[in-house]
Amino acid sequence: MKPSLKELRARKGGERLALVTAYDAPGARQAELAGIDAVLVGDSLGMVVLGYSSTTQVTLAEMLHHLRAVCRGAQDTFVIADVPFGYLQRGKRALASACVELIQAGADAVKIEGGLEAAAAVRWLVERGVPVVGHLGLTPQTATALGGYHAQGRDLASARRIFEAALALDAAGAFALVLEAVPATLAARIRQRCQALTIGIGAGADCDGQILVYHDLLGIFDRFTPKFVRRYAELGEEAVAALRRYREEVRGGGFPTPAHSFSAPPSLLDELE
Ligand code: KIV
Repeated sequence: MKPSLKELRARKGGERLALVTAYDAPGARQAELAGIDAVLVGDSLGMVVLGYSSTTQVTLAEMLHHLRAVCRGAQDTFVIADVPFGYLQRGKRALASACVELIQAGADAVKIEGGLEAAAAVRWLVERGVPVVGHLGLTPQTATALGGYHAQGRDLASARRIFEAALALDAAGAFALVLEAVPATLAARIRQRCQALTIGIGAGADCDGQILVYHDLLGIFDRFTPKFVRRYAELGEEAVAALRRYREEVRGGGFPTPAHSFSAPPSLLDELE
């Protein structure tokens, strides 16, 4: 059965949560069968599935399309959906309407990338019944402004900015905070000081949970592998090898065999002519 928000929250400081991204029904189903605690329909969708060069190109329509597929594939799993780039920037009205669309498409919660500047909007949404996850540290939607895809919070000014944003989002009612590519010590301090669950990705082990991108975890995305990724399989290589074997068997006549074919009474062809 799908865990409730209350049940997830109760894991604060307890057994760690394992999250993974999902973008389609089969991936979501695999996550559910594996007992994953929650899936995120991340806007990493743009890079690992849609072939964009950054997450900023992902539209709300694309998010909704993939979110619906994930919800069909994993009906007993808590689903978080990313609010794509542009909605926080366009103001509360646009943000609220994107969140409503994501929730109506099946999301149990939305994730918003942003620091202190997002806190007032998060409070406003939470007060109106929208469960919100924050995202701090390396925020890919604003990676250009951050100077690239680098770890954040490694100097005092940057650590302070992240820490203060975490406190503000926590006070605003975000029930979880994704902490991406920040020092483990900073993540541990945020975990101690916030009621929100901390979900790390490149934020060390002292978090309430961890998340990885499905295609990184399974070795499907080969354009680059961030330092914080552990690849639990090499499905990309296996897929290429299998496709090559298939191509060779088709060319050589090894596939299909009679076992893959349908039969009919011998008289059928006589009658046909
Ligand atoms: O879009 C995404 O997949 C994410 C995770 C990396 C946390 O935001």
